[in-house]
Order: sequence, then C-alpha cells, then structure tokens
Amino acid sequence: MQEALTEAIIDRGCVELERLAALRSKGWQAEKLDEVFTRQRHTADNADDRLNKTWCKRSNTVMREIDDYARCIPPMGSVRFLDLGCCPGGFTSYVLQHNRWARGVGVSLPVDEGGHKFVLGAHLRNRFHLHLADMTSFFQLGPSFSDHPRLRPAPAQMKPASFDLVLLDGHQLRTQKSDYSAPWDIDRLLISQIILAFQSVRTGGNMVVTLTHPNRVLTAQILYILDVISENLATFKPRTMHMTRGSFYAIATGVGKGAEGAKMPRMIRALQELWVETTFGGEKGNGRYIKSSDLGFAISTEELKATYLERLIELGKDVWDFQAQSLEEWFLHKGIF
Ligand SMILES: C[S@@+](CC[C@H](N)C(=O)[O-])C[C@H]1O[C@@H](n2cnc3c(N)ncnc32)[C@H](O)[C@@H]1O
Repeated sequence: MQEALTEAIIDRGCVELERLAALRSKGWQAEKLDEVFTRQRHTADNADDRLNKTWCKRSNTVMREIDDYARCIPPMGSVRFLDLGCCPGGFTSYVLQHNRWARGVGVSLPVDEGGHKFVLGAHLRNRFHLHLADMTSFFQLGPSFSDHPRLRPAPAQMKPASFDLVLLDGHQLRTQKSDYSAPWDIDRLLISQIILAFQSVRTGGNMVVTLTHPNRVLTAQILYILDVISENLATFKPRTMHMTRGSFYAIATGVGKGAEGAKMPRMIRALQELWVETTFGGEKGNGRYIKSSDLGFAISTEELKATYLERLIELGKDVWDFQAQSLEEWFLHKGIF
C-alpha cells in the first residue's frame, strides 16, 4: 500500500480531497461495486479488434482535450515525438493529425506478451516507427551495462536528448506474460518510463505523463521533480475517459529549463539506481516495490509536507474535484446510494 499525504492535505483545508476521500470510503463499503469492477476488468482483459479501435478513438480524444487545455503540441513545424506505451495508437494518431510535419517513435508491449494491438490508420503510418518491446527491460535503464538475459537494447531511434515531445502512458496490464513477472512491475514500469523520457527529451521539450492520485507520496515526488526541472507544470483530468478513477495527466513544458533543470543528469542516475533495485534488488534479488524514501534524493515525505503541500493542492485540486463529482454521479447512476 502506497503511503499517502491525504490527512496532511485535508488538514490544510482542502475540501476537494476531503469530499473525494469521504465518497471513496463510502463506495468501498458497497458490495455492489465488486460486481461492477469484475465486469469492467473482464472487458478490459479480453479486448477484441473493435474494442481496440474504440479505445484508440477515445485516447485520441483524451490527447485532444489535453492539448486544448495545455497547448503542448505545436500545430506547425517539425515535431519529433516519442510515445511510450503507444498501443492501440490514440495519442499518436492525434499528434500526427494535429501536425502534418510531426514524426514519431513508439514503444509498446508485443501482443504475444499480452499487449494491445496497434490500430493506427494506414495513412499515418509512414510518419511513425513502432517498436514492440517490454520497455522495462532496456539495459539503458541501469547506470551501467549489464548482460543479464532479460535485458535488451532500446530501439536505435531513441537517441538521447532528441525528442521535442515525450508521451508516457504505459499501464501495467493484468494480461502481461513474462518469465520475470512480479507484483512490483507496476512501479518498474513507471520508473522505466520516467528514465527513458528524461534521457530522450531535448532541453526545452515537453512531456505528458499519466499519473494517479496526486495525494500519493510517490506521485507527489514525481510532480515535484517535474515542477523543478521544467519551466511550467500543469495537471489535467480529462472529461471523456476514466472520470471516476484517480488517473490524471501532468504536462511539463520547457523540460530541463526549470530552476533545477541542470540537476537532470544526477536525477537520471539516481532513478537508474532505483530501477536496478526494483529489478534485481529486494530480499530474493528479483526486485521490489518503490518505497517513499527511494525518491528522497529529490524530496522526502517530511519535506513534501513542510514545503510542497500548497503547490500540491494547487496542482491536485481540480483533479480531486472532478473525480469526486464523477464518482458521485456514477454511484447515483449505479444505485450505490
Ligand atoms: C493505456 S494503454 C496506452 C494507450 C495509448 N496511449 C493510446 O493512446 O492508444 C497502455 C499501453 O501500455 C502498454 N504497456 C504496458 N506495459 C508495458 C511494457 N512493460 N512495455 C511496453 N508497453 C507496455 C500496453 O501494451 C498498452 O498498450
């Protein structure tokens, strides 16, 4: 269970999170919800072509919403983008349609390892290179070369500091098949994407990062890092998908040009050491979950509480507010209360 800052934030008078926390605890007590979630999980784990196309369209709309809000994708001029966890292809399709000079590279889990199918329209494919690979297993994720059999090189197109835009939307799938699967893969996936994005984005480029629950310590630490290395950081919860969930997007612009942008190489190194721990550390040498102290090189839980809560509330308020509003409507609709 990830540590959270919920109490400290509510104590600061954040009514949006207070309302959301109350709704969530009421919801968890409702047995009817188990049934709803089981049905949802079954649909998600058994996606056919039609469902993949629907997801692709909906993700395209989500990226449109993000861009309308944050203006993070230039409509004109050359844009080189990297899309991490790009299948079925919704984000990529939006970028390629929005900017006809844009060219991209994407990485996503192969279908035979449990990943989603790529359904990008044929007319857009000549501006996009797709690599099917498990992006938590690139040896560039560690601070030094290792010839461990589970590791392989990242695609050659992922050149350091060469992308104007990096999109991070890899989600851990229940359907993933791997000899090395571990419960903490969810943490490995998050940390892997951040390392790859920091290595690949050019100075002054933009990043769009999927995160969950701004009140979780790990999320708050990542928001803090993005905030200090970038010129600007915004958060956004789309109105068209996953409205009742804790997921949201952080949009960092001018990455590397923030007050602590010069510290990025040191941060990458610390994150690489953490990736080694989550992959080969732990009691059995097969990895472990991330602890909140692991990101202490950037900011500790105590420092978050002492110096970052106001800013975190500013970044999280609309996310909590919209999630609470959506949950309330959804519970009413499902006859939960
Ligand atoms: C929510 S979907 C992304 C949707 C995508 N942004 C779009 O617009 O269509 C998450 C994706 O992450 C991919 N993924 C999950 N684990 C991965 C891994 N270890 N390596 C590469 N891709 C992964 C999944 O295959 C899935 O396609």
